Amino acid sequence: MSAGDSFYIATPIFYVNDVPHIGHAYTEVAADVLARWHRQRGEDAWLLTGTDEHGQKILRTAVANNTTPQEWADRLVADSWQPLLETIDIANDDFIRTTDERHEKAVSTFLQRLYDDGHIYAGEYEGYYCVGCEEYKQLDDLVTAPDGDYKGQLVCAIHSRPVEILKEKNYFFRMSDFGQKLLDLYESQPDFVQPASVRNEIVQFVKQGLDDLSISRSSFDWGVKVPWDETHVVYVWFDALLNYVSAIGYGVDDEQFAKRWPAVQLVGKDIARFHAVIWPAMLMAAGLPVPRAVFGHGWLLVGGEKMSKSKLTGIAPSQITDTFGSDAFRYYFMSAITFGQDGSFSWEDLSARYQSELANGFGNLASRVIAMVNKYFDGEIPTLGELTASDEAIIATQKRATEQSNALIDTFAINEALASVWQLVDELNGYITEQEPWALSKDPANRERLGTVLATTVNGLGTLAILLSPVLPKATEKLWQAIGGVGELREQRIDDATSWSNTGRVTALESSLFPRIEVDAESGTA
Ligand code: MSP
Repeated sequence: MSAGDSFYIATPIFYVNDVPHIGHAYTEVAADVLARWHRQRGEDAWLLTGTDEHGQKILRTAVANNTTPQEWADRLVADSWQPLLETIDIANDDFIRTTDERHEKAVSTFLQRLYDDGHIYAGEYEGYYCVGCEEYKQLDDLVTAPDGDYKGQLVCAIHSRPVEILKEKNYFFRMSDFGQKLLDLYESQPDFVQPASVRNEIVQFVKQGLDDLSISRSSFDWGVKVPWDETHVVYVWFDALLNYVSAIGYGVDDEQFAKRWPAVQLVGKDIARFHAVIWPAMLMAAGLPVPRAVFGHGWLLVGGEKMSKSKLTGIAPSQITDTFGSDAFRYYFMSAITFGQDGSFSWEDLSARYQSELANGFGNLASRVIAMVNKYFDGEIPTLGELTASDEAIIATQKRATEQSNALIDTFAINEALASVWQLVDELNGYITEQEPWALSKDPANRERLGTVLATTVNGLGTLAILLSPVLPKATEKLWQAIGGVGELREQRIDDATSWSNTGRVTALESSLFPRIEVDAESGTA
């Protein structure tokens, strides 16, 4: 992709029935890292996130809390979901709510178009529904509860709660018309659904044949009204999926829409079917391009199970950031878990990696180098003299880390991209140990060599600041200032991270990039 290209990335929109946990924050951070990375390639990157506010789940939660769904949603958005973005340092370009007028209008326009073009018909729905998933279920999606409150009952395999039997007059979307077209899409664009595990599951699912989809409900009214029949509201998923186009001017701002669409979509694997089957079928029906890619990431597990609020295993992001800070939160989840696979969270692992990789690895490297330039050169960054094989090796690693990480980001291998950058951190630490600048400083005859060693490490630090800025925006900003980086860090080209300019001087770091934290591993509190 070349400079100026548009890169639109979207997270799923989050249900406002409850407050965020670290599983939600995980999706946000991954999307933010990718958006920041692409921005630093000079692309016109645009990150969308938001909230999913209609449907029975939200309605019931509001009623249980003696309030209206609108008031409930307003409260959760203002008190929990928008503050989450601050807590984990998300630089989103827009925040869409499905109760926004712009969104509701776009849903009506879209639906009317499908209706006019014959993709929708009235019918009768009879089957199971899980309010937790907001999804119609087939028998093989259900299990008989082995124990607990619902022992012996048919429950949703995801929520472990009973499903409801629905019998309603509904409007249906002729999704079955799109089965072959979807299979052709997966075939001709093999990276449309990623990773391969999710793609295989989706292909298998579609090969079994698609049913038409019930897209309206008439037994409650918390939703967007069906434009030709106001006794129905639009099915919450049909409504929610449209946020990706309503936010960029679908139906009202053709220029913006053409500039941004199609998006790259990050979703948890639990909702990959909605995004890789229903959503492209809806777009095909409307004559619009399908997303650029749908990537289904894995789950954060607690005790081997998907972490969830309904199972009381949710951990609030602020529990982590209050102690470790937002950068550490971002780094930990992006580096410790293979993106696309499940990963277990533990306080022990978090604090061990914080200490060894961030505090001792990267933070200490930065403090030592800056302190030595201050001590031996009065803060003036020395220039490179004659290069030895060791210096050349560092320069080669800088180049390799830049190239590899950029290539890996294009395949969504965020953790591997970080690992390739971390080779530079480790090699710079090894280089300092081996070159012993403190020993060189003792003999004035080694002055030029000392200068070359410190100049090489300062150059390496600049490359690290640039490459790590999407993941560690706060720490790298401090580092950039301290090493006299010229220009805004976020404007430094990440695909050319080996060339950057400095003012010629370092300034002292006011505090370490990653202060030492004494952590009680059980509770995670300092
Ligand atoms: N509202 C729907 C999405 C509509 S998009 C048109 C929804 N919301 S959600 O709040 O339940 O989940 C939002 C995202 O959080 C999903 O991508 C989901 O996979 C992710 N996660 C929720 N729990 C998670 C973990 N324990 N681990 C990782 N991600 C998880 O679904």
